[in-house]
Amino acid sequence: MQIDPSLHANAENYKLLTDLVVPRPIAWITSAGDSGVVNLAPFSFFNAVGSAPPYVVVGIGNRDSGAPKDTARNIQTSGEFVVNFVTEELLAAMNISAADFPPDQSELEAAHLHTAPSVQVRTPRVAEAQVSLECRLFSSQALGANTLIIGEVVMFHVADQLVGPRMHIKDFAPIGRLGSPSVYCRTTDRFELARLRYAEWQKLVDL
Ligand SMILES: Cc1cc2nc3c(=O)[nH]c(=O)nc-3n(C[C@H](O)[C@H](O)[C@H](O)COP(=O)(O)O)c2cc1C
Repeated sequence: MQIDPSLHANAENYKLLTDLVVPRPIAWITSAGDSGVVNLAPFSFFNAVGSAPPYVVVGIGNRDSGAPKDTARNIQTSGEFVVNFVTEELLAAMNISAADFPPDQSELEAAHLHTAPSVQVRTPRVAEAQVSLECRLFSSQALGANTLIIGEVVMFHVADQLVGPRMHIKDFAPIGRLGSPSVYCRTTDRFELARLRYAEWQKLVDL
């Protein structure tokens, strides 16, 4: 079946895209605007896009009213944000933080979470998260009814027990997002596949 997005409603294209581009990592973003209230919300239009220097991207849609979400507004105002990662014990708190709280109410309090200070940015991170990335806004660009945020990672926070020799990360199992609206996956079912050199592939096809 071929499906031309230009012939379908935005809601249908959203379903298709989010059911097909899976699993997606979840950026659980702390941000703060002029009021100083620390905002927390999850975003799965998220990924890492470069490592020299390290960059992440986040796609934030407008609210149905057309107004920007608090996270997009805060990032544009403050020029910074923190990406926290959701592991299984934080799932319930993540779900609470996704509710449409008014801007003057902190999702952190509602979800019984705490903040820990950041080092390079003023925005705090989630104390309970095993991993957080402090980010400085590199650019913000309108993409239709979305805002594309590119952030430069200026500090990694990684729980000591996750860091092995030579920056090897072990036993980190963040939750992934599958289809919309509420399907998730664990990342504990893993396997290794050694990368082939061309000469090795040639040997395989010569057999
Ligand atoms: C797992 C998950 C992933 C989400 N991903 C996105 C996303 O990528 N982009 C987006 O605009 N909203 C996303 N949402 C919805 C926002 O989290 C939600 O609109 C939230 O209320 C925004 O909060 P804010 O206004 O405080 O920024 C997601 C929700 C959940 C539960």
